[in-house]
Amino acid sequence: MAILVAVTGWEAGPWVRRLKELAPGRRVLETGIDGVFAGNRDDLEAVRYVLAWKPRPELLASLINLQVLFSLGAGVDNILALPGLPDVPLVRIVDPDLTARMSEYVAWQVLHHHRQGFAHARLQVERRWQELRQPAAGEVTVGIMGLGVLGRDAAEALCRLGFRVIGWSRTEKVIEGVASYHGKAGLEDFLGQTDILVSLLPLTPETAGLIDGPLLAKLRRDGPLGGPVLINAGRGGSQVDADIAAALADGRLIGASLDVFQDEPLPAGSPLWSLPNLVITPHIAAVSAPRALARNIIDQITAFESGGPLQNLVDPARGY
Ligand SMILES: NC(=O)c1ccc[n+]([C@@H]2O[C@H](COP(=O)([O-])OP(=O)(O)OC[C@H]3O[C@@H](n4cnc5c(N)ncnc54)[C@H](OP(=O)(O)O)[C@@H]3O)[C@@H](O)[C@H]2O)c1
Repeated sequence: MAILVAVTGWEAGPWVRRLKELAPGRRVLETGIDGVFAGNRDDLEAVRYVLAWKPRPELLASLINLQVLFSLGAGVDNILALPGLPDVPLVRIVDPDLTARMSEYVAWQVLHHHRQGFAHARLQVERRWQELRQPAAGEVTVGIMGLGVLGRDAAEALCRLGFRVIGWSRTEKVIEGVASYHGKAGLEDFLGQTDILVSLLPLTPETAGLIDGPLLAKLRRDGPLGGPVLINAGRGGSQVDADIAAALADGRLIGASLDVFQDEPLPAGSPLWSLPNLVITPHIAAVSAPRALARNIIDQITAFESGGPLQNLVDPARGY
């Protein structure tokens, strides 16, 4: 019985070392950074569990004894899109380490825009000592799209910082201190109150291309920051990069922070790189850290082998 770390674009080594530390008796196999597995037929037959990030579909299809597929990311769009995906349970990562990293990123970017980070940086370059009008956090409404594990924690963190926080999800939610909207019917009301829009949505057929020009035009325009701000740390496929660039250029957005893009890595020729009111980060809002997350997976495998239920199962029909 073996565990296979099947990753493309990531080093498998840190995952393998951590898994071996936590479960010394287990056999752990790995792919190269190109996702290719160099093992033989017996190795493939031994694999019961796969830890995956952008795995190669032909590799998954060749694992005839696979029992559980673990996504090393919270988002599973890269796995659900694979042709011939084996019919086994798909588990996604939910872990306090990942959640804390995301709330930290969201708080960092909300505060950057709220405390006028770009304006202060410009003044510093010009050697100008000038006090800017600073609204209180309570005057600013942060609207979070996606009130799942990550959205809910970020909402609570922002509430603690004093922001007015509202949220939008597919189904109705009750979160203390957070007015919540849901479904297509609730979207316009939600957007109309939002000064800083934060997306923590998964990529599904329903959310693909959702954050476009018409959606951005519905954000509150007369708020205390002088215009709306967008922060997307969910998935790039949920946004239309060109519409965001146009909105930043003509002032429909006064600022944005994007950790995710339609095309990743963001091509060097993208016009987004040169927009002065945009923060670009390379999909690092909440990285999957082997040290913290491998334990979660080993614990799940141990529970599964004793007949216990798997946690954080993905519903393939829903897409997240
Ligand atoms: N940038 C990074 O480094 C990074 C790291 C980790 C994760 N992520 C992204 O963050 C996403 C969210 O993670 P999570 O753990 O919070 O996921 P989650 O617990 O599954 O939550 C997803 C949320 O999105 C809502 N949602 C889904 N489809 C919707 C729709 N069509 N309309 C309105 N709301 C919809 C869900 O509504 P319901 O609650 O009603 O179901 C839920 O509240 C992941 O899918 C991943 O893409 C990014």
